[in-house]
Amino acid sequence: MYRTHTCGELNESNIGQKVILAGWIQTIRDKGFVTWIDLRDRYGITQLVFDEQRTDKDLIEKARKLGREYVIQVSGTVIERSSKNPNISTGSIEILVEKLSILNESLVPPFTIEDDTDGGEEIRMKYRYLDIRRNPVKDKLIFRSKVAQLVRNYLSGEGFIEVETPVLIKSTPEGARDFVVPSRINPGQFYALPQSPQTFKQLLMVAGLDKYFQLVKCFRDEDLRADRQPEFTQIDCEMSFVEQEDVLNTFEGLTKHLLKELKGISFDKFPRMTYAEAMRRYGNDKPDVRFGMEFIELNEELQNNGFKVFDEAELVVGINVEKCASYTRKQLDELTDWVKRPQIGASGLVYIRYNEDGSIKSSVDKFYSEDQLKIVINKANAQPGDLLLLLSGSTKKVRPQLSALRMELAERLGLRNPDEYAPLWVVDFPLLEWDEDENRYLAMHHPFTSPKPEDISILDTKPGEVRANAYDLVLNGNEIGGGSVRIYNKELQGKMLSLLGFTEEDAEAQFGFLMNAFKFGAPPHAGIAFGFDRLVAILGGQEVIRDYIAFPKNNSGRDVMIDAPSYIYKEQLKELNIEIIKD
Ligand code: AMO
Repeated sequence: MYRTHTCGELNESNIGQKVILAGWIQTIRDKGFVTWIDLRDRYGITQLVFDEQRTDKDLIEKARKLGREYVIQVSGTVIERSSKNPNISTGSIEILVEKLSILNESLVPPFTIEDDTDGGEEIRMKYRYLDIRRNPVKDKLIFRSKVAQLVRNYLSGEGFIEVETPVLIKSTPEGARDFVVPSRINPGQFYALPQSPQTFKQLLMVAGLDKYFQLVKCFRDEDLRADRQPEFTQIDCEMSFVEQEDVLNTFEGLTKHLLKELKGISFDKFPRMTYAEAMRRYGNDKPDVRFGMEFIELNEELQNNGFKVFDEAELVVGINVEKCASYTRKQLDELTDWVKRPQIGASGLVYIRYNEDGSIKSSVDKFYSEDQLKIVINKANAQPGDLLLLLSGSTKKVRPQLSALRMELAERLGLRNPDEYAPLWVVDFPLLEWDEDENRYLAMHHPFTSPKPEDISILDTKPGEVRANAYDLVLNGNEIGGGSVRIYNKELQGKMLSLLGFTEEDAEAQFGFLMNAFKFGAPPHAGIAFGFDRLVAILGGQEVIRDYIAFPKNNSGRDVMIDAPSYIYKEQLKELNIEIIKD
C-alpha cells in the first residue's frame, strides 16, 4: 500500500495513529537538532518531523539529503504539533517519521512550487505540469471538473443524451478559419476540424434523438485573446419540437443551477434585451450590465451649432462618468490618447465637466453656451461632480469605440466586481451582416439560423433588416453562449444560402448532406452552445480562460511545453502529398 491517508486529511482526531503518506517535498527546514519537511499531494500539505531525540540517526541523515520535489513515502505516527498553523487543516499535527523511502528523485524545479511563485508566465507554461502542482492552478482544474459534472448531471436530468460527433469532418461555416488535416489515403484532400458540431447536431435531430448535448472540443483558427483559444470546449446542445422560449428556459435553468450550486446566488428571471437595444444603450451586443454609464444620444442637442465634427457625424453619443469631474487635464489627455489608439480608432474625445460647485467646463466651450451644455447634462441626469465624455462619427464605428471606453473606465473605477453576477439574454439578432471586404452579406450567427417568421416577407427587399430567432447569453459583459432556432425547411435553407452568395452547385457541394437530410422529415429544432471555458472562468471570478485549461496555447497559438506546432519530416509530407513551396 502506498498510503493510508492523503496529505490533506489528518488532524487532531488522528493523533496516535500509525500512518503511511506519499507525496512531493515542498520544503525542507533543517534546524540542526530537528528537520521538518512539508509533504504535498493534491489534497494538501502535511508536516513531517525528524528530531535528534526521537528519530533514528541514519533516518535523519537520509532526510537531510532529500531535495525539493522528491517523491517520497513515509510511515510514522501522528503527533500534536507544538506550534500550530491555523491556516491549514492539517496544521495541528505532524508525523514523527519512522520509515522513509525515496520513490523518485527530482531536479531542482525551475520555479518555486508555492502559491506565490517566482516563475514568470513563459517558464510556467513550459513546465505546465509543475505549475499544475501549485494550488491556484490545480484548484482551477478541480473547479472546472466540478462545473462539468454539474452540467452533465443537470442536462441528463432534463432528458438530454450525450452523443459524440466526429472530429475529422468537412468544414463547418462558423465564420472563423478551419484547421485542416490532410488525408493520406485521399491524396490532395483534407478534413477540417470542427469549429462546432453544428451540422451533426442538426442531423441528430433529423435522426430523432430529440435532446442532445456534448461537452465537445471545437477548433477555430482565429486571433487569440484572453477569452479565446484555438481549441476550446463547448457545452453544445440541440432540441426538437421547441421554440426559442423553450431553449432560453432550459439554459436559463442550467445557468441558474450553476450559479446557485457554485456561488450560492439565486436568480429570478434573467433580463432580456434586443440586439438593437443593446447596441443603442451600450454600443455592444454583450453589455456588462453590472454598472450604468449607459449611452446618451445627443444629435438633437448638439448638432447644427457650428461645431463641424459633431455636425457632420451620423451619431453624437456620450457617457456620464460619475464623480470624475475632478479628472485633471493630464488624465483627460491620457483618455483622449487611449481612444485614439489604432485598436480603438476614435478621432478625438470631447469632455464636459460638471464641477462640484455647479459650474460647467468643456472642451467645446467655444461652440456651446453654458445653457446648451446644461441641457446635455440634464439629459444625462448628471450630478455635480460628474464627467461627460462624448464621441462622434459613423454609428457603426462610434458605438464600439464608446463601448470600449465605457469598459475601460469601469475597469479603472473598479465597477466590474467579479463577485457580482449579471446575466442577460440578448435576443433578436440581425440575420445577416454586410461584409465590406467581401461586398456581400454574411450570416451573423450561421447559415442555418431561421429568420423571424414575421420578417421573411422582407428577405428579398431589405435583407439587412431581417431579424433572426437568434440569442446570446451574456454574463458580466462576456458572451457565454449563442444559439438559434434553425431552418428545417429545404426551400428556406436554399434561399438563405443563395442570399449568402452560394450558387446552387456550391450549396449542394458544401451542404448537400444537410439539405438532403431535410427531405426525410426534419423536425422543427433549435439549440445553443455555451463556451465552457468562458463559463468556468467567469464562475471562477476571472476572464482569462487560459488559466482554466490544463494545457493551453500561448498568445501565438503555440504549446510551448510540447513545442507545437512543429515541422514534420519530409517523408511525412511526401506521404501526405504535400509540397512545401519555398520562395
Ligand atoms: P458560437 O460560435 O456563438 O456558436 O459559439 C458558442 C460559444 O462558444 C464560445 N467560443 C469560444 N470560447 C473560447 N475560445 C474561442 N475561440 C471561442 N469561440 C467561441 C463562446 C460562444 O458564445 N454552433 C453554434 C451554436 C448554436 O447555434 O447552437 C456556435 O458554435 O462562448
